[in-house]
Amino acid sequence: MANSILVGLQWGDEGKGKIIDVLTENVDMVVRFQGGNNAGHTVEVGDEKFVLHLIPSGILHAGCQCVIGNGVVVNPLTLAQEIADLEARGYEVVDRLRISSRAQLVFSYHCVMDGLFEHKLGENKIGTTKRGIGPAYADKVNRVGIRAGELLNLPRMEHHFRTQAKFYNDIFAEASVPTVDIDSEWASIKGVADKLAPLVEDTVLSINQAVGQGLKVLFEGAQGMWLDVDFGTYPYVTSSNTTAGAACTGSGLAPSRIEHVVGVAKAYCTRVGEGPFMTELHDEEGKRMASLGNEFGATTGRPRRCGWFDAVATRYSAMLNGVDQLALTKLDVLDDFETIKVCVAYDLDGRRLSEMPIAVADYARVNPVYREFPGWCQKTSDATCWEELPERCREYLQALSGLIEAPLKIVSVGPRRDQTFFV
Ligand code: IMP
Repeated sequence: MANSILVGLQWGDEGKGKIIDVLTENVDMVVRFQGGNNAGHTVEVGDEKFVLHLIPSGILHAGCQCVIGNGVVVNPLTLAQEIADLEARGYEVVDRLRISSRAQLVFSYHCVMDGLFEHKLGENKIGTTKRGIGPAYADKVNRVGIRAGELLNLPRMEHHFRTQAKFYNDIFAEASVPTVDIDSEWASIKGVADKLAPLVEDTVLSINQAVGQGLKVLFEGAQGMWLDVDFGTYPYVTSSNTTAGAACTGSGLAPSRIEHVVGVAKAYCTRVGEGPFMTELHDEEGKRMASLGNEFGATTGRPRRCGWFDAVATRYSAMLNGVDQLALTKLDVLDDFETIKVCVAYDLDGRRLSEMPIAVADYARVNPVYREFPGWCQKTSDATCWEELPERCREYLQALSGLIEAPLKIVSVGPRRDQTFFV
């Protein structure tokens, strides 16, 4: 597999972790390029289940190098915990994980600020994961953020940390929000600095050197296209670019080095948090999808909103990301539905739209126009290849691929590694 970017085409939770895990068998390095521990990638290996938040899923493959790129925001305490958890389960991490010296760090004051912003927004809240992601990216753009490189000079970092923490504590005090205990937080950070500092390096060099040596690199996107801060359902988005272009800015590898973009979409749609969701189901069918698909957030445990596949939104997403390899996941969740619907257009104020409305505010006002497909009403989770899928199921998948104008390459019919095959 050549150098590739993998991105989610919906609102996250498309099953990317599982596809990355399968693709990693043929790559030498996996790079995270945006987001933070708001992401939760679930991977099942045999009987074991792993939920990874910051460490690329490639860590589950011995011999695969993993990089947390400059575009990621890293909570040092949760990263240290994630490393310790993997080590406790027998995985060797420190020799294979590197952190960009330019990655921004997330501290508890960012998390408190995240909650305060949400509180102030009241009924307009975003529904964030409260992991401090937005405030950490805001610090980066405001040029006051603390980067992982500072772990290499603790006295300087301490000064910077205390200045920033005090700045936030003043805001919290004024808002009558409990302040952060700066001494104890710093003590915790110092406690993990020894473990993390040796992993920090100029990953622009390591990634480019790997590519120069002909090694294959996979760029692992977190969240999904419709949560992208520029292209998503703004303001109900995350604070990073979740789309393919960010793989270059978030890692320091040039676009000319990228050969493929793998887009991952579920066979239906889900979303967590607030914001427009054009095909959302509020009825029993939606509840059935949620329970069959076990649709609860990997990071926060929140129930996910469910709805039919949206071919209008996903075609836009595939176009924007330049998807040349489509992966469709969680097909088995639809096994028992007698009729399966796909949104092929929207109605807005009496007009039929084949593309997204210009204003995001109108996304919430559209009525989806559905094409109906007969269900296959047969178990698919045992299928090991394309030919073993029921004919109606293959027709459904081919129709989705045609509607979103992206060639189907990978199908997944369950959470395990062996429930994924190439088409
Ligand atoms: P934040 O990223 O915590 O600021 O949250 C912003 C929005 O992105 C919220 O609607 C979250 O639910 C959503 N979000 C963030 N990370 C993920 C993810 O990994 N999967 C799905 N939704 C996410």
